Amino acid sequence: MKYVELNSGDQMPLLGLGTWQLRGEKCTKSVKEALDIGYNHIDTADGYDNHQAVGRGIKKANIDRKELFITSKIKPENLHYDDIKADAERFLDELEIEYLDLLLIHWPNKKIPLKESLKALKEVKAEGLAHNIGVSNFTINHLKDAIKIYPDLITVNQVEFHPSLYQKDLLDFCQENGIILTAYSPLARGEVFQNDIIKTLADKYEKSASKLALKWLIEKDVVAIPKASSREHLESNFDLFDWELPAEAKEKMDALNEDNRIIDPSWAEFDY
Ligand SMILES: NC(=O)c1ccc[n+]([C@@H]2O[C@H](COP(=O)([O-])OP(=O)(O)OC[C@H]3O[C@@H](n4cnc5c(N)ncnc54)[C@H](OP(=O)(O)O)[C@@H]3O)[C@@H](O)[C@H]2O)c1
Repeated sequence: MKYVELNSGDQMPLLGLGTWQLRGEKCTKSVKEALDIGYNHIDTADGYDNHQAVGRGIKKANIDRKELFITSKIKPENLHYDDIKADAERFLDELEIEYLDLLLIHWPNKKIPLKESLKALKEVKAEGLAHNIGVSNFTINHLKDAIKIYPDLITVNQVEFHPSLYQKDLLDFCQENGIILTAYSPLARGEVFQNDIIKTLADKYEKSASKLALKWLIEKDVVAIPKASSREHLESNFDLFDWELPAEAKEKMDALNEDNRIIDPSWAEFDY
């Protein structure tokens, strides 16, 4: 595993397991299998309705808690002060862990003052319930608002990011401000396998399209959290750490942006 350092000094694994749409036994099995393979970073959310299943997988893998990095997210409708304080406690009960490594605002919500949410999150951190605080689906303007309120609180922004949605301005802004970018849907939900340029590179360099897409991210110090449910996919996605991305592949994948946003719910604030 390779790591990036968060502004708290904590080390965040550059690869994690995404768990959206994994539920019940299947989720528990994938989490346990991933941890057995060597993953040490799991991404969940209240909205995925799988905290208990993730927690069971973690328990079954029987790994020292200090070796794990666990992220969860607060739903956008639960961003009032009291809701955040109650949610943080509830998440720990559901996951059966004593702290989260990272707690994110899942989506910005202009109906709830950001200042109120961040105050609660700062307290959750001070109380040790979450070691790091971050956000998800924040634009540069959302991040500027957050930084104005508490300059050093936000440590991660988790956004959709893959070669056909290469949000370079957002990545540059994050890196200039000490914020780690996490790429969700790093395989473009499977679309990387249909991209002709990535397919040609995959044939030429004998690396699958998914490996090239994940390697392209982690070489930029962008954290990748692919979701995978089969052992074959979990193992394939883990094979990233003992080879280099060919310069030609980096250059060609850097030029694939089409502003292809796959996750775009009607209530998102991407135009802010
Ligand atoms: N913050 C947010 O708002 C937000 C939004 C979306 C996602 N996320 C997070 O990001 C994670 C990943 O994103 P995602 O689930 O949207 O999509 P993704 O990781 O880009 O793609 C997942 C799909 O790729 C397949 N796959 C994985 N590895 C493969 C391989 N080696 N070969 C072939 N197919 C492979 C999976 O199939 P199998 O399941 O069959 O293995 C699944 O169908 C989520 O699970 C979630 O944790 C966060």
